[in-house]
Amino acid sequence: MKKILIIGATSAIAEHCGRLWATRGDTLYLVARNEERLKTIATDLKVRGATQVLSHPMDLNDLDGHASMLDLAGAAMDGIDTVLIAHGTLSNQKVCEQSVEETLSEIKTNALSTICLLTRIANLFETKQTGVIAVISSVAGDRGRASNYVYGSTKAMVSAFASGLRQRLYESNVAVVTIKPGFVDTPMTASFRKGLLWIKPKNAAAKIVHAIDKRKGEVYVPSFWRLLMIVIKAIPNNIFNKLKI
Ligand SMILES: NC(=O)c1ccc[n+]([C@@H]2O[C@H](COP(=O)([O-])OP(=O)(O)OC[C@H]3O[C@@H](n4cnc5c(N)ncnc54)[C@H](OP(=O)(O)O)[C@@H]3O)[C@@H](O)[C@H]2O)c1
Repeated sequence: MKKILIIGATSAIAEHCGRLWATRGDTLYLVARNEERLKTIATDLKVRGATQVLSHPMDLNDLDGHASMLDLAGAAMDGIDTVLIAHGTLSNQKVCEQSVEETLSEIKTNALSTICLLTRIANLFETKQTGVIAVISSVAGDRGRASNYVYGSTKAMVSAFASGLRQRLYESNVAVVTIKPGFVDTPMTASFRKGLLWIKPKNAAAKIVHAIDKRKGEVYVPSFWRLLMIVIKAIPNNIFNKLKI
């Protein structure tokens, strides 16, 4: 039985990870800002077999609240084995282009709050010399594109930060798993037209839980995105600038 902290637990992808852990009988501590959704998900995960499910409503942009949330999670579960950081917003690129405030707000939600959490959790796990920290980044962080470079650059920061953290914590027996999904059919992408490259959150969750079990370093979800991103990153700028991707 694992003790798992899910940050951004109302995310569709995180909820499906929670379901898989619940069926294994794990203990779950859920953090999200929508109290009603949190209650509904907690009840569902208990029914699915979780040993215990605890909820902690908070806006993750309240950076000062992170330390007490982590203290409470650790105390309530008598320790934390695994953390999944899943919260995020898909930035409105056009609005960000016209508003420095909106751009900074997106950077706070998608990068700064995550970096703050990673820093605190890393120090906690380094002291214990054990643990798995998983964070959902994105393929969008691999190369900035005109259509979503604000969101993409926040994910690039998360990926680079997690990469450094992984190397730092290697000798402390702490795994840092960077998850890079491609297109997942969730509320975040509700307005997008879906095609061949899309997967359901249930399938994404299965791959994420497997990667966490195996303490993998960096996973593309699904794996074909690794190859796709190698190709996209290799396109020379003079060609890339003319593409509408
Ligand atoms: N869907 C995709 O195609 C895709 C692709 C690559 C990466 N990702 C990443 O996967 C992760 C999960 O997203 P998803 O696809 O599962 O979308 P989702 O269902 O829309 O989940 C996003 C979650 O983030 C929460 N959130 C946003 N800002 C928050 C804040 N300040 N405090 C607390 N919670 C906050 C939202 O809570 P509320 O409901 O309260 O707003 C929501 O539960 C995100 O990091 C996303 O960037 C998604």
